[in-house]
Amino acid sequence: MRLCINIDHIATLREARGGLEPDPVAAAHVCELAGAHGIVCHLREDRRHINDRDLRLLRETVKTKLDLEMAATEEIVKIAIETLPELATFVPERRQELTTEGGLDVRGHRHHLRDVIAEMHRHEIEVSLFIDPVPEQVEAAAEIEADKIEIHTGEYANARSEREQAELLEVIRTAARRARELGMGVNAGHGLDYLNIIPFRTIEEIEEVSIGHSIISRAVFVGLDRAVREMVDLVR
Ligand code: PXP
Repeated sequence: MRLCINIDHIATLREARGGLEPDPVAAAHVCELAGAHGIVCHLREDRRHINDRDLRLLRETVKTKLDLEMAATEEIVKIAIETLPELATFVPERRQELTTEGGLDVRGHRHHLRDVIAEMHRHEIEVSLFIDPVPEQVEAAAEIEADKIEIHTGEYANARSEREQAELLEVIRTAARRARELGMGVNAGHGLDYLNIIPFRTIEEIEEVSIGHSIISRAVFVGLDRAVREMVDLVR
């Protein structure tokens, strides 16, 4: 399993004072030096954390791979095409939410998403769709020619007992297998941390995990370099 680090929280901290630090571009560099396989950022419509300058500089400086989380809106699609990230991950976006709350309804938006995916492919940008581990959504993603899915692991992360966690792990495993059968790559993320990643590693179909909150939170106490290295060791 590879580890991609979401650095949005670094930008959130910067925005708390509206100044220059901490700089998410510098954070991305530290993450890469510590062994991260990729950098993830979400350019939200309201620019509440990552902004256009961050994205531009990240594109210039990230040496591993840049995964741009984005809503499939006209404005952000245009920016993605100018930026050319290695991967664009489409997520649902609601203005009032604290973080991305649920997976995309691919079936319900398949006509729009199919067109946007085709547009991204014309510019050689791979597309991943952030979805709940539900068979109909996995199949809909394959039908509209997504390259990958990212399975929403929020429910797994919030499991209240070992038994519930084990059940939700199997739901994710089944969705991941189905995606691979349909020829798509499989990523996963949301709420993964230093403990719940351990059983998660048994899902061989998952190639990459995208983790932000737990790593940046740990970094406050142990430093970003160590927080990243510890997670790199765990996902391996
Ligand atoms: N994947 C997606 C699509 C997300 O929206 C987020 C949160 O920004 C993550 C992964 C990372 O989640 P967390 O910060 O809980 O690790």
